[in-house]
Amino acid sequence: MSGAVLAEGKRVVISELGEDPPEAIERFASLEPMPAPDPRTLGARDVIIAVRSAQVGWVDLLMTSGQYQHLPKPPYTPGLEYAGEVVWVGAACGDAIALGDEVLVDGFLAGPRSLGSYQAWGGFASYAVAPAEAVRRIPGGLSFDQACNLLGNYETAYHCLITRGRLAAGETVMIHGASGATGLAAVHIAKLVGARVIATGRAEDKLAVVRDEGADHVLGVRRPDGAPGVRELRDDVKALTGGRGVDVVYDGVGGDISAESLRCMRFGGRFLVVGWAATPGVSRGKGQRGAPNVNVLPTNLIMMKGLDVLGCPTVISTVNDPSLRPPRLAQILRWAEAGQIKPHVSHGFALADFKEAMRAKWRGEVTGGCVVRP
Ligand SMILES: NC(=O)c1ccc[n+]([C@@H]2O[C@H](COP(=O)([O-])OP(=O)(O)OC[C@H]3O[C@@H](n4cnc5c(N)ncnc54)[C@H](OP(=O)(O)O)[C@@H]3O)[C@@H](O)[C@H]2O)c1
Repeated sequence: MSGAVLAEGKRVVISELGEDPPEAIERFASLEPMPAPDPRTLGARDVIIAVRSAQVGWVDLLMTSGQYQHLPKPPYTPGLEYAGEVVWVGAACGDAIALGDEVLVDGFLAGPRSLGSYQAWGGFASYAVAPAEAVRRIPGGLSFDQACNLLGNYETAYHCLITRGRLAAGETVMIHGASGATGLAAVHIAKLVGARVIATGRAEDKLAVVRDEGADHVLGVRRPDGAPGVRELRDDVKALTGGRGVDVVYDGVGGDISAESLRCMRFGGRFLVVGWAATPGVSRGKGQRGAPNVNVLPTNLIMMKGLDVLGCPTVISTVNDPSLRPPRLAQILRWAEAGQIKPHVSHGFALADFKEAMRAKWRGEVTGGCVVRP
């Protein structure tokens, strides 16, 4: 075993689940001193990472109120995905990992959403411990900020668009929430497989970035009279698709836009249920589960247009069928290594400003990724 003597650090602790993420952030989240992990308590396949950047994801927010499928047990440290520098390596880790390596950590195998004993080590902290198999060299010269925005976002986009959506070259996909972390990853992957992208969103400035990142067309969804809800999109989409409608819808937003999307689809199209950023209150807060405010889709439109509605839960599907992951991961790492995917990160904060980071994400100010830098 090897590594330097490590100084004390800091970590974010969620002491109790909130009714919703804003309550958890304001009342139950704090920055606390963190003793450096003691190598004498670690295993021979363990690695200590000095965290340089941790993604502040939508799922990180939902977990603070127990409104995500995977329920954390407070007190816990958020930060599903992080990247940093290796500062200690267990004796049985082999040659693949060395002190000083710049690495990202696989959120399936370590961190608060993982299933085993590494749940305790979230990325909103100076240090984290992960098993050797979760630690990967950062591909393609990505920065720490980009690296911690790679796997979860692009694996979600891949699972939804490719595995479930069977998106093919020459098809047109409409991507809602395209300025989001998974949404922008979906724009990138759709372009890599040769599809045409119509991206939607509420803010012109964020849509301009989405266009720069590769979307062929962007559509604002706000109503012209300023009222809440979503404007009619059908005529614009029909005009962009020769009257036909889109082949695939990637819906990470939910609520009003879902029903409007069905009117924009061709007969026999595929509607991908990815998430519901617009309606995070579908399930009860404080981890009480249930879905008192479920989203609904109009069955008449689904029936008359012969649509396939496909639920796309990446993690749950992968736990059910682990064979889904190796080809997905290999393709994403190949693209990253070749410089064909570069996560866009619009917001970065010091760890001490983690509340501001979480608020910015919650308020929808971010385009692509948001990070805290311990
Ligand atoms: N299926 C899966 O496996 C999977 C995996 C990860 C995440 N998800 C889910 O997918 C959804 C998107 O995730 P993400 O990480 O891309 O989230 P994100 O980064 O927060 O992006 C969501 C986007 O949705 C748009 N949006 C529209 N109405 C909104 C509202 N009322 N509040 C907030 N955003 C709104 C925003 O774009 P504009 O401001 O441009 O409108 C925002 O950029 C979430 O529901 C998440 O839980 C699903």
